[in-house]
Amino acid sequence: MEHLNVLLIGSGGREHALAWAISQSPMLDHFYIAPGNPGTSQHGENIDLDIDDFEDVVDFCETHKIDLVVVGPEQPLVDGITDYLNDYGINVFGPSKGAAMLEGSKSYAKSIMHKYGIPTAGSEVFERHEISMLETYLSEQVNFPVVLKVDGLAAGKGVFICDNLDDARKYIDKIMNDVDLSAAAPIIVVEEFMQGEEVSVFAISDGTTVKYLSHAQDHKRIGEGDIGLNTGGMGAYAPAPVLSQDMLDDVMKRIIQPTVDAMASEETPYLGIVYCGLMITSEGPKVVEYNCRFGDPEAQVILPSLKTDLLELMNTTVNGKLEYVSIDLDSDYFCSVVMASEGYPGSYPKGLPITGIDDVPEGVIVFHSGTSIDENADLVTNGGRVLNVVGRGDTLKKAIVHAYSGVQKISFDGAYHRRDIGEKGLRYFSE
Ligand code: AMP
Ligand code: GLY
Repeated sequence: MEHLNVLLIGSGGREHALAWAISQSPMLDHFYIAPGNPGTSQHGENIDLDIDDFEDVVDFCETHKIDLVVVGPEQPLVDGITDYLNDYGINVFGPSKGAAMLEGSKSYAKSIMHKYGIPTAGSEVFERHEISMLETYLSEQVNFPVVLKVDGLAAGKGVFICDNLDDARKYIDKIMNDVDLSAAAPIIVVEEFMQGEEVSVFAISDGTTVKYLSHAQDHKRIGEGDIGLNTGGMGAYAPAPVLSQDMLDDVMKRIIQPTVDAMASEETPYLGIVYCGLMITSEGPKVVEYNCRFGDPEAQVILPSLKTDLLELMNTTVNGKLEYVSIDLDSDYFCSVVMASEGYPGSYPKGLPITGIDDVPEGVIVFHSGTSIDENADLVTNGGRVLNVVGRGDTLKKAIVHAYSGVQKISFDGAYHRRDIGEKGLRYFSE
Protein backbone atom coordinates (compact mmCIF):
# COMPACT_ATOMS: atom_id res chain seq x y z
CA MET A 1 0.00 0.00 0.00
CA GLU A 2 1.13 3.50 -0.84
CA HIS A 3 1.89 5.65 2.22
CA LEU A 4 1.44 9.40 2.15
CA ASN A 5 2.80 12.35 4.08
CA VAL A 6 -0.03 14.84 4.30
CA LEU A 7 -0.24 18.56 5.08
CA LEU A 8 -3.71 19.87 5.96
CA ILE A 9 -4.24 23.63 5.82
CA GLY A 10 -6.65 25.45 8.14
CA SER A 11 -7.60 25.79 11.79
CA GLY A 12 -11.36 25.51 12.28
CA GLY A 13 -13.95 22.87 13.09
CA ARG A 14 -13.99 21.79 9.44
CA GLU A 15 -10.25 21.13 9.62
CA HIS A 16 -10.59 19.15 12.86
CA ALA A 17 -13.21 16.98 11.12
CA LEU A 18 -10.89 16.59 8.10
CA ALA A 19 -7.96 15.70 10.38
CA TRP A 20 -10.11 13.18 12.27
CA ALA A 21 -11.15 11.48 9.01
CA ILE A 22 -7.72 11.57 7.34
CA SER A 23 -6.03 10.16 10.46
CA GLN A 24 -8.14 7.01 10.20
CA SER A 25 -6.56 6.08 6.89
CA PRO A 26 -4.09 3.17 6.84
CA MET A 27 -2.41 5.04 3.96
CA LEU A 28 -1.36 7.90 6.23
CA ASP A 29 2.32 8.23 7.12
CA HIS A 30 3.29 11.63 8.60
CA PHE A 31 0.48 14.10 9.18
CA TYR A 32 0.91 17.83 9.68
CA ILE A 33 -1.74 20.52 10.14
CA ALA A 34 -1.00 24.21 9.57
CA PRO A 35 -1.78 25.96 11.82
CA GLY A 36 -4.42 23.55 13.25
CA ASN A 37 -6.01 23.77 16.68
CA PRO A 38 -5.93 21.70 19.90
CA GLY A 39 -8.42 19.29 18.28
CA THR A 40 -6.31 18.61 15.20
CA SER A 41 -3.24 18.02 17.41
CA GLN A 42 -4.92 14.80 18.60
CA HIS A 43 -4.51 13.44 15.07
CA GLY A 44 -1.26 14.88 13.74
CA GLU A 45 1.40 17.51 14.35
CA ASN A 46 0.28 21.14 14.34
CA ILE A 47 2.85 23.37 12.72
CA ASP A 48 3.32 27.08 12.88
CA LEU A 49 3.32 27.96 9.21
CA ASP A 50 2.06 31.16 7.58
CA ILE A 51 -0.44 29.65 5.15
CA ASP A 52 -0.68 32.92 3.22
CA ASP A 53 3.01 32.65 2.37
CA PHE A 54 2.96 30.04 -0.39
CA GLU A 55 6.76 30.01 -0.64
CA ASP A 56 6.97 28.92 3.01
CA VAL A 57 4.39 26.23 2.34
CA VAL A 58 6.47 24.93 -0.59
CA ASP A 59 9.61 24.92 1.59
CA PHE A 60 7.79 22.94 4.25
CA CYS A 61 6.45 20.44 1.71
CA GLU A 62 9.87 19.90 0.18
CA THR A 63 11.62 19.51 3.54
CA HIS A 64 9.00 17.10 4.88
CA LYS A 65 8.42 15.22 1.63
CA ILE A 66 4.69 15.99 1.55
CA ASP A 67 2.79 13.83 -0.94
CA LEU A 68 -0.57 15.58 -0.64
CA VAL A 69 -1.72 18.99 0.57
CA VAL A 70 -5.39 19.24 1.58
CA VAL A 71 -6.76 22.79 1.74
CA GLY A 72 -9.66 23.44 4.14
CA PRO A 73 -10.62 27.14 3.74
CA GLU A 74 -11.49 29.12 0.60
CA GLN A 75 -9.07 32.04 0.86
CA PRO A 76 -5.85 30.18 -0.05
CA LEU A 77 -7.67 28.40 -2.89
CA VAL A 78 -9.02 31.65 -4.30
CA ASP A 79 -5.51 33.12 -3.92
CA GLY A 80 -4.07 30.29 -6.02
CA ILE A 81 -2.29 28.00 -3.55
CA THR A 82 -3.07 24.97 -5.72
CA ASP A 83 -1.43 26.41 -8.86
CA TYR A 84 1.55 27.67 -6.86
CA LEU A 85 2.23 24.27 -5.24
CA ASN A 86 1.48 22.31 -8.43
CA ASP A 87 4.22 24.33 -10.17
CA TYR A 88 6.66 22.73 -7.72
CA GLY A 89 5.24 19.26 -8.41
CA ILE A 90 3.27 19.14 -5.15
CA ASN A 91 -0.17 17.50 -5.29
CA VAL A 92 -3.04 19.49 -3.83
CA PHE A 93 -6.61 18.47 -3.10
CA GLY A 94 -8.53 21.64 -3.91
CA PRO A 95 -9.37 23.61 -7.05
CA SER A 96 -6.99 25.80 -9.03
CA LYS A 97 -7.30 29.58 -8.82
CA GLY A 98 -9.32 29.63 -12.05
CA ALA A 99 -11.74 26.97 -10.85
CA ALA A 100 -12.03 28.47 -7.35
CA MET A 101 -13.43 31.60 -9.02
CA LEU A 102 -16.78 29.82 -8.79
CA GLU A 103 -16.65 30.95 -5.16
CA GLY A 104 -14.20 33.85 -5.45
CA SER A 105 -16.25 35.86 -7.94
CA LYS A 106 -20.04 35.85 -7.88
CA SER A 107 -20.24 37.54 -11.28
CA TYR A 108 -18.02 34.81 -12.74
CA ALA A 109 -20.21 32.10 -11.18
CA LYS A 110 -23.33 33.76 -12.60
CA SER A 111 -21.75 34.03 -16.04
CA ILE A 112 -20.93 30.30 -16.04
CA MET A 113 -24.46 29.39 -14.91
CA HIS A 114 -26.11 31.63 -17.50
CA LYS A 115 -23.78 30.45 -20.29
CA TYR A 116 -24.33 26.74 -19.59
CA GLY A 117 -28.02 26.85 -18.68
CA ILE A 118 -27.55 25.87 -15.03
CA PRO A 119 -30.71 26.82 -13.08
CA THR A 120 -30.18 29.95 -10.97
CA ALA A 121 -31.79 33.33 -10.31
CA GLY A 122 -31.67 35.90 -13.10
CA SER A 123 -29.00 38.56 -12.56
CA GLU A 124 -27.28 41.67 -13.85
CA VAL A 125 -23.80 42.92 -13.01
CA PHE A 126 -22.60 46.48 -12.55
CA GLU A 127 -19.07 47.76 -12.13
CA ARG A 128 -18.25 50.27 -9.43
CA HIS A 129 -18.19 53.19 -11.85
CA GLU A 130 -21.67 52.21 -13.08
CA ILE A 131 -23.42 52.94 -9.77
CA SER A 132 -25.75 55.50 -11.31
CA MET A 133 -26.79 52.91 -13.94
CA LEU A 134 -27.38 50.45 -11.11
CA GLU A 135 -29.62 52.95 -9.30
CA THR A 136 -31.59 53.65 -12.46
CA TYR A 137 -31.94 49.92 -13.09
CA LEU A 138 -33.20 49.36 -9.55
CA SER A 139 -35.68 52.22 -9.67
CA GLU A 140 -37.06 51.42 -13.14
CA GLN A 141 -36.62 47.77 -13.98
CA VAL A 142 -36.81 45.43 -11.02
CA ASN A 143 -39.50 43.95 -8.84
CA PHE A 144 -38.54 43.95 -5.19
CA PRO A 145 -37.29 42.13 -3.22
CA VAL A 146 -33.93 41.87 -4.98
CA VAL A 147 -30.58 40.67 -3.72
CA LEU A 148 -27.38 42.73 -3.96
CA LYS A 149 -24.08 40.89 -3.74
CA VAL A 150 -20.50 42.05 -3.68
CA ASP A 151 -18.43 40.11 -6.18
CA GLY A 152 -15.57 38.83 -4.02
CA LEU A 153 -15.13 36.88 -0.78
CA ALA A 154 -16.77 38.73 2.10
CA ALA A 155 -17.01 36.11 4.87
CA GLY A 156 -20.80 35.92 4.54
CA LYS A 157 -21.22 39.69 4.90
CA GLY A 158 -21.53 40.59 1.24
CA VAL A 159 -25.16 39.67 0.50
CA PHE A 160 -28.05 42.10 1.02
CA ILE A 161 -31.72 41.30 0.59
CA CYS A 162 -33.52 44.53 -0.30
CA ASP A 163 -37.27 44.78 0.21
CA ASN A 164 -37.54 48.14 -1.53
CA LEU A 165 -35.59 50.88 -3.26
CA ASP A 166 -34.71 52.63 0.01
CA ASP A 167 -33.14 49.44 1.32
CA ALA A 168 -31.21 49.05 -1.90
CA ARG A 169 -29.87 52.63 -1.72
CA LYS A 170 -28.81 52.11 1.89
CA TYR A 171 -26.95 48.89 1.04
CA ILE A 172 -25.28 50.35 -2.05
CA ASP A 173 -23.99 53.12 0.19
CA LYS A 174 -22.65 50.53 2.62
CA ILE A 175 -21.03 48.50 -0.14
CA MET A 176 -19.34 51.59 -1.59
CA ASN A 177 -18.08 52.97 1.71
CA ASP A 178 -17.39 50.09 4.09
CA VAL A 179 -13.64 49.43 3.84
CA ASP A 180 -13.82 45.60 3.82
CA LEU A 181 -16.86 45.35 1.58
CA SER A 182 -15.63 47.93 -0.81
CA ALA A 183 -12.46 45.89 -1.44
CA ALA A 184 -14.61 42.88 -2.33
CA ALA A 185 -16.84 44.91 -4.62
CA PRO A 186 -15.22 45.97 -7.87
CA ILE A 187 -18.45 44.53 -9.25
CA ILE A 188 -21.93 44.35 -7.73
CA VAL A 189 -24.34 41.60 -8.71
CA VAL A 190 -28.10 42.21 -8.63
CA GLU A 191 -30.09 39.02 -8.40
CA GLU A 192 -33.75 38.03 -8.41
CA PHE A 193 -34.94 36.99 -4.99
CA MET A 194 -35.68 33.27 -4.77
CA GLN A 195 -38.30 31.97 -2.38
CA GLY A 196 -37.87 28.53 -0.88
CA GLU A 197 -35.93 26.31 1.47
CA GLU A 198 -32.14 26.18 1.28
CA VAL A 199 -30.02 23.05 1.21
CA SER A 200 -26.38 22.39 0.35
CA VAL A 201 -25.21 19.53 -1.82
CA PHE A 202 -21.62 18.32 -1.53
CA ALA A 203 -19.86 16.40 -4.27
CA ILE A 204 -16.28 15.55 -5.19
CA SER A 205 -14.74 16.02 -8.62
CA ASP A 206 -11.47 15.17 -10.34
CA GLY A 207 -12.17 17.59 -13.15
CA THR A 208 -14.21 15.17 -15.26
CA THR A 209 -16.03 12.74 -13.00
CA VAL A 210 -18.14 14.07 -10.15
CA LYS A 211 -19.66 11.98 -7.36
CA TYR A 212 -22.21 12.80 -4.73
CA LEU A 213 -21.05 12.97 -1.10
CA SER A 214 -23.91 14.28 1.01
CA HIS A 215 -26.41 17.07 1.46
CA ALA A 216 -26.83 19.14 4.58
CA GLN A 217 -28.58 22.12 6.09
CA ASP A 218 -26.71 24.81 7.97
CA HIS A 219 -28.22 27.25 10.52
CA LYS A 220 -26.67 30.62 9.72
CA ARG A 221 -28.50 32.92 12.13
CA ILE A 222 -27.49 33.32 15.76
CA GLY A 223 -31.03 32.95 17.14
CA GLU A 224 -33.49 30.09 17.34
CA GLY A 225 -36.08 30.13 14.57
CA ASP A 226 -33.46 31.65 12.22
CA ILE A 227 -33.54 35.16 13.63
CA GLY A 228 -30.83 37.68 14.46
CA LEU A 229 -27.39 38.23 12.99
CA ASN A 230 -25.68 36.03 10.46
CA THR A 231 -22.89 33.81 11.75
CA GLY A 232 -20.41 31.36 10.24
CA GLY A 233 -23.00 28.67 11.01
CA MET A 234 -24.45 27.57 14.35
CA GLY A 235 -25.03 23.91 13.51
CA ALA A 236 -25.84 21.51 10.71
CA TYR A 237 -27.40 18.17 10.01
CA ALA A 238 -27.16 15.62 7.23
CA PRO A 239 -28.66 14.16 5.23
CA ALA A 240 -31.38 16.81 4.94
CA PRO A 241 -34.76 15.24 4.06
CA VAL A 242 -35.88 18.36 2.14
CA LEU A 243 -34.20 16.73 -0.89
CA SER A 244 -35.71 13.41 -1.93
CA GLN A 245 -33.61 10.87 -3.81
CA ASP A 246 -35.33 11.87 -7.06
CA MET A 247 -34.57 15.55 -6.48
CA LEU A 248 -30.99 14.68 -5.64
CA ASP A 249 -30.58 12.69 -8.87
CA ASP A 250 -32.01 15.68 -10.71
CA VAL A 251 -29.59 18.09 -8.97
CA MET A 252 -26.63 15.88 -9.91
CA LYS A 253 -27.83 15.67 -13.53
CA ARG A 254 -28.97 19.27 -14.11
CA ILE A 255 -26.66 21.23 -11.80
CA ILE A 256 -23.58 19.48 -10.42
CA GLN A 257 -22.41 17.48 -13.47
CA PRO A 258 -23.10 20.42 -15.86
CA THR A 259 -21.05 22.67 -13.56
CA VAL A 260 -18.07 20.33 -13.69
CA ASP A 261 -18.52 19.93 -17.47
CA ALA A 262 -18.70 23.72 -17.84
CA MET A 263 -15.45 24.23 -15.94
CA ALA A 264 -13.75 21.59 -18.11
CA SER A 265 -15.03 23.37 -21.25
CA GLU A 266 -13.66 26.65 -19.91
CA GLU A 267 -10.26 24.93 -19.54
CA THR A 268 -10.30 25.39 -15.79
CA PRO A 269 -11.18 21.82 -14.75
CA TYR A 270 -12.62 21.68 -11.24
CA LEU A 271 -10.78 19.36 -8.85
CA GLY A 272 -11.95 19.24 -5.26
CA ILE A 273 -15.14 19.59 -3.27
CA VAL A 274 -18.10 21.09 -5.10
CA TYR A 275 -20.30 22.70 -2.46
CA CYS A 276 -23.46 23.90 -4.07
CA GLY A 277 -25.91 26.05 -2.10
CA LEU A 278 -29.40 25.53 -3.53
CA MET A 279 -32.81 27.08 -3.13
CA ILE A 280 -35.70 24.65 -3.58
CA THR A 281 -38.06 26.98 -5.46
CA SER A 282 -41.50 26.24 -6.90
CA GLU A 283 -39.68 25.83 -10.23
CA GLY A 284 -37.27 23.27 -8.75
CA PRO A 285 -33.78 23.57 -7.25
CA LYS A 286 -31.72 26.59 -8.31
CA VAL A 287 -28.15 27.54 -7.42
CA VAL A 288 -27.73 30.27 -4.78
CA GLU A 289 -23.96 30.00 -4.66
CA TYR A 290 -20.97 27.76 -5.19
CA ASN A 291 -18.25 27.21 -2.66
CA CYS A 292 -14.93 25.62 -3.52
CA ARG A 293 -14.36 23.60 -0.33
CA PHE A 294 -16.20 21.81 2.47
CA GLY A 295 -18.65 23.83 4.55
CA ASP A 296 -18.04 24.62 8.19
CA PRO A 297 -20.06 23.26 10.12
CA GLU A 298 -21.30 20.95 7.32
CA ALA A 299 -18.01 19.00 7.13
CA GLN A 300 -18.52 18.06 10.77
CA VAL A 301 -21.70 16.11 9.87
CA ILE A 302 -20.65 14.84 6.44
CA LEU A 303 -17.22 13.38 7.19
CA PRO A 304 -18.42 11.12 10.03
CA SER A 305 -20.92 9.60 7.60
CA LEU A 306 -18.24 8.70 5.03
CA LYS A 307 -17.31 5.03 5.20
CA THR A 308 -14.86 5.30 2.29
CA ASP A 309 -11.26 6.11 3.27
CA LEU A 310 -11.12 9.92 2.87
CA LEU A 311 -7.37 10.08 2.22
CA GLU A 312 -7.56 7.39 -0.44
CA LEU A 313 -10.55 9.15 -1.99
CA MET A 314 -8.73 12.50 -2.12
CA ASN A 315 -5.54 10.96 -3.45
CA THR A 316 -7.39 9.02 -6.15
CA THR A 317 -9.24 12.20 -7.08
CA VAL A 318 -6.00 14.18 -7.40
CA ASN A 319 -4.70 11.39 -9.67
CA GLY A 320 -7.76 11.79 -11.93
CA LYS A 321 -9.21 8.36 -11.17
CA LEU A 322 -12.41 9.19 -9.28
CA GLU A 323 -14.36 7.26 -11.91
CA TYR A 324 -13.09 3.98 -10.40
CA VAL A 325 -13.99 4.72 -6.77
CA SER A 326 -17.27 3.90 -5.12
CA ILE A 327 -18.22 6.19 -2.28
CA ASP A 328 -19.82 4.45 0.67
CA LEU A 329 -21.96 6.43 3.08
CA ASP A 330 -23.45 5.50 6.42
CA SER A 331 -27.24 5.41 6.47
CA ASP A 332 -27.31 7.23 9.84
CA TYR A 333 -28.22 10.88 10.37
CA PHE A 334 -25.70 13.29 11.90
CA CYS A 335 -26.33 16.53 13.77
CA SER A 336 -23.73 19.07 14.90
CA VAL A 337 -24.46 21.77 17.47
CA VAL A 338 -22.04 24.69 17.70
CA MET A 339 -21.17 25.96 21.18
CA ALA A 340 -20.24 29.62 20.83
CA SER A 341 -18.74 32.34 23.04
CA GLU A 342 -21.08 34.85 24.67
CA GLY A 343 -21.41 37.87 22.36
CA TYR A 344 -20.66 36.03 19.09
CA PRO A 345 -21.01 37.08 16.23
CA GLY A 346 -20.12 40.40 17.89
CA SER A 347 -17.16 40.72 20.25
CA TYR A 348 -16.58 37.98 22.82
CA PRO A 349 -14.13 37.06 25.58
CA LYS A 350 -11.33 34.54 25.09
CA GLY A 351 -9.32 32.35 27.42
CA LEU A 352 -12.24 30.86 29.39
CA PRO A 353 -11.66 27.32 30.70
CA ILE A 354 -13.65 24.55 28.96
CA THR A 355 -14.72 21.52 30.96
CA GLY A 356 -16.60 18.29 30.28
CA ILE A 357 -15.38 17.30 26.82
CA ASP A 358 -14.28 13.89 28.09
CA ASP A 359 -17.68 13.28 29.71
CA VAL A 360 -19.79 13.29 26.55
CA PRO A 361 -21.83 10.11 25.97
CA GLU A 362 -20.36 7.31 23.88
CA GLY A 363 -20.32 8.00 20.16
CA VAL A 364 -20.67 11.78 20.47
CA ILE A 365 -17.77 13.46 18.65
CA VAL A 366 -16.47 16.87 19.71
CA PHE A 367 -14.67 18.86 17.01
CA HIS A 368 -12.74 21.96 18.09
CA SER A 369 -13.09 25.32 16.31
CA GLY A 370 -11.95 28.26 18.47
CA THR A 371 -9.99 26.65 21.30
CA SER A 372 -6.43 26.91 22.57
CA ILE A 373 -4.21 25.59 25.34
CA ASP A 374 -3.26 28.20 27.95
CA GLU A 375 -0.03 28.56 29.94
CA ASN A 376 -1.35 26.09 32.56
CA ALA A 377 -1.94 23.51 29.81
CA ASP A 378 -5.72 23.91 30.19
CA LEU A 379 -8.14 23.94 27.27
CA VAL A 380 -9.68 27.41 26.90
CA THR A 381 -11.92 29.29 24.49
CA ASN A 382 -10.18 31.17 21.69
CA GLY A 383 -12.84 32.14 19.16
CA GLY A 384 -16.48 32.90 18.45
CA ARG A 385 -17.44 29.39 17.49
CA VAL A 386 -15.70 27.22 20.08
CA LEU A 387 -16.81 23.60 19.71
CA ASN A 388 -18.97 21.42 17.47
CA VAL A 389 -20.77 18.61 19.24
CA VAL A 390 -21.80 15.87 16.80
CA GLY A 391 -24.41 13.20 17.48
CA ARG A 392 -25.63 10.37 15.28
CA GLY A 393 -28.66 8.13 15.10
CA ASP A 394 -30.67 5.95 12.77
CA THR A 395 -33.29 8.70 12.80
CA LEU A 396 -32.73 12.45 12.61
CA LYS A 397 -34.50 12.82 15.95
CA LYS A 398 -32.04 10.43 17.62
CA ALA A 399 -29.07 12.24 16.08
CA ILE A 400 -30.34 15.54 17.47
CA VAL A 401 -30.97 14.11 20.95
CA HIS A 402 -27.52 12.47 20.91
CA ALA A 403 -25.80 15.76 19.97
CA TYR A 404 -27.58 17.71 22.72
CA SER A 405 -26.74 15.00 25.27
CA GLY A 406 -23.12 15.88 24.54
CA VAL A 407 -23.69 19.65 24.70
CA GLN A 408 -25.15 19.25 28.21
CA LYS A 409 -21.88 17.81 29.51
CA ILE A 410 -19.66 20.64 28.28
CA SER A 411 -19.37 24.06 29.83
CA PHE A 412 -17.51 27.35 29.72
CA ASP A 413 -18.59 30.76 31.00
CA GLY A 414 -21.26 32.29 28.77
CA ALA A 415 -21.46 29.26 26.44
CA TYR A 416 -24.26 29.75 23.92
CA HIS A 417 -25.88 27.29 21.54
CA ARG A 418 -29.09 27.18 19.53
CA ARG A 419 -31.58 24.65 20.85
CA ASP A 420 -33.30 24.04 17.53
CA ILE A 421 -30.56 22.59 15.32
CA GLY A 422 -32.04 20.01 12.96
CA GLU A 423 -35.62 20.76 13.92
CA LYS A 424 -36.61 21.99 10.48
CA GLY A 425 -35.74 18.53 9.11
CA LEU A 426 -38.07 16.77 11.55
CA ARG A 427 -41.23 17.92 9.83
CA TYR A 428 -40.51 15.50 6.97
CA PHE A 429 -41.02 12.54 9.31
CA SER A 430 -44.11 11.38 11.11
CA GLU A 431 -42.76 10.08 14.38
P1 AMP B 1 -24.56 33.60 -0.73
O1 AMP B 1 -23.33 34.13 -0.07
O2 AMP B 1 -24.67 33.95 -2.18
O3 AMP B 1 -24.82 32.17 -0.43
O4 AMP B 1 -25.79 34.30 0.03
C1 AMP B 1 -25.94 34.19 1.42
C2 AMP B 1 -27.38 33.93 1.75
O5 AMP B 1 -28.22 34.96 1.21
C3 AMP B 1 -27.92 32.65 1.16
O6 AMP B 1 -27.61 31.53 1.94
C4 AMP B 1 -29.40 32.95 1.09
O7 AMP B 1 -30.01 32.76 2.35
C5 AMP B 1 -29.43 34.42 0.77
N1 AMP B 1 -29.55 34.62 -0.68
C6 AMP B 1 -28.55 34.80 -1.56
N2 AMP B 1 -29.01 34.94 -2.82
C7 AMP B 1 -30.34 34.85 -2.74
C8 AMP B 1 -31.42 34.94 -3.69
N3 AMP B 1 -31.18 35.16 -4.99
N4 AMP B 1 -32.67 34.81 -3.24
C9 AMP B 1 -32.94 34.60 -1.94
N5 AMP B 1 -31.98 34.52 -0.99
C10 AMP B 1 -30.70 34.65 -1.37
N1 GLY C 1 -21.47 26.86 6.43
C1 GLY C 1 -21.25 27.86 5.48
C2 GLY C 1 -19.95 27.84 4.83
O1 GLY C 1 -19.08 27.05 5.13
O2 GLY C 1 -19.74 28.67 3.94
